[in-house]
Amino acid sequence: MAVTGSTRRTPLIAGNWKMNLDHLQSIAFVQKLAWSLKDARHDFDTVEVAIFPPYTDLRSVQTLVSADKLPLAFGAQDLSEHDSGAFTGEISGAFLAQLECQYVIIGHSERRTLHSETDAHVAAKVTAALKHNLVPVICVGETAADLEEHGPSAVPVSQLRAALAGVDTAADIVVAYEPVWAIGSGQAATPEQAEQVAAQLRVVISEALGQDVADKTRILYGGSVKASNIAAFMREPNVDGALVGGASLDIHEFSSIIRYQKHVGV
Ligand code: 13P
Repeated sequence: MAVTGSTRRTPLIAGNWKMNLDHLQSIAFVQKLAWSLKDARHDFDTVEVAIFPPYTDLRSVQTLVSADKLPLAFGAQDLSEHDSGAFTGEISGAFLAQLECQYVIIGHSERRTLHSETDAHVAAKVTAALKHNLVPVICVGETAADLEEHGPSAVPVSQLRAALAGVDTAADIVVAYEPVWAIGSGQAATPEQAEQVAAQLRVVISEALGQDVADKTRILYGGSVKASNIAAFMREPNVDGALVGGASLDIHEFSSIIRYQKHVGV
């Protein structure tokens, strides 16, 4: 597929905190991150930054971002497919929207594996997110066994097709390609592998939602992203950012990832 429109996509560097940092720690962290990026004169219009703290931190992060007018986007790591009702332990998209969340991660491999989320759950959650004007960050990725058996693209392509099945063509979405074997392993995919899969995911978006949506949708790479490898991923035409786990918990490392354009040789 021809790569079109890549210059119209603002790169997005997103930090998935997973189950780390309580609400007090989140306040200190966000303040320090904001200072660090301000000191470095980071231009948020050039590279957007989003963080995904645990649910219990979201109100604190919202209050801080709003009071200090920080140019940081934030969102939750999951949501319920339901709006309200007898769903003990679940959090509705309506609640997240009230907290001014802009994004929500859906279908992370840890949810798929540890909480038995299927493609059908992921699709229902994507619909729920869009209903509440949250931008879903739809995660797809193959395991090491899938990689061996089917190569890198087959599973992510089929997961994304399923996730987009009920989506309106005007939808605003983000896709994150996270090979399961690369998450937390220190063994990132090669930039060429990430590009190859991202290009195929863009074709899936184009088939499901049309070329215009495909051209404007950010496709992130995730899995052992660090300050030392981000620039190589960002050189790839179909990779529009990163979903960062472990390294997003280290302010120096995360702000260096965000400022990848300043790295030597980019
Ligand atoms: P790591 O960056 O720790 O490999 O985690 C990636 C991830 O799962 C982000 O969602």
